[in-house]
Amino acid sequence: SGSGKTTLAKSIERKLFDKGYNVYMLDGDNIRNGLNSNLGFSEEDREENIRRIGEVAALFARAGFVVVTAFISPFAKDRENALNAYDQNSYEIYLSCDVATCENRDPKGLYKKARKGEIKDFTGIDSPYEVPKSPDLVINTQEESIKNCEKQLFDFILSKTSTWVFVTNLNFCYNVLQFYRQEVMALITISLHFYTFINKKNVWMRFVSWY
Ligand code: ADX
Repeated sequence: SGSGKTTLAKSIERKLFDKGYNVYMLDGDNIRNGLNSNLGFSEEDREENIRRIGEVAALFARAGFVVVTAFISPFAKDRENALNAYDQNSYEIYLSCDVATCENRDPKGLYKKARKGEIKDFTGIDSPYEVPKSPDLVINTQEESIKNCEKQLFDFILSKTSTWVFVTNLNFCYNVLQFYRQEVMALITISLHFYTFINKKNVWMRFVSWY
């Protein structure tokens, strides 16, 4: 908690969406409150949490989505299994930030509670975190600005998306054009009318017949 997973995942989701990608972000809010609401933070529950997330992400990926999953996933074995659920094109991204910094930020006040013993098995306090040994990308959220981190992640995702995404993008642009086609045509016609009306009153009728 506090390393910037959700912040970064949300901003990259927005950026990709604006560029026409099919993209969906999974995090504690939409997974732990719903699909995984029967799971806690024991080792077994965390394993099951990450297993389900891997499978859900794979389903989305097969439907043509870029899926961004923002979870602590503290155990190497669970992360490996989750990546294997969609081994064609899945990557481990490690947000590097030490516990002291996370605890200092403490955006949800959870470290304070964990220190007081009000929350048990809290990652970084009384539950371990296995640092990834060979992640596909490391982003230093301790020292770099959010904008910088976002750029690194965006460039990484673009380098991994295939031409299919490019085609999807073209398709998206085409759909947008189709959607506005009538309005665009009407505008062009109106301006043509206007132009000819001002310049050559005698050809006005020819253009009117096009409409
Ligand atoms: S994971 O370990 O199973 O991957 P996950 O990312 O889903 O964890 O959930 C972490 C979020 O749950 C934290 O950001 C925090 O808000 C909340 N949380 C509640 N209890 C704990 C706990 N004991 N350890 C870690 N996070 C907790």
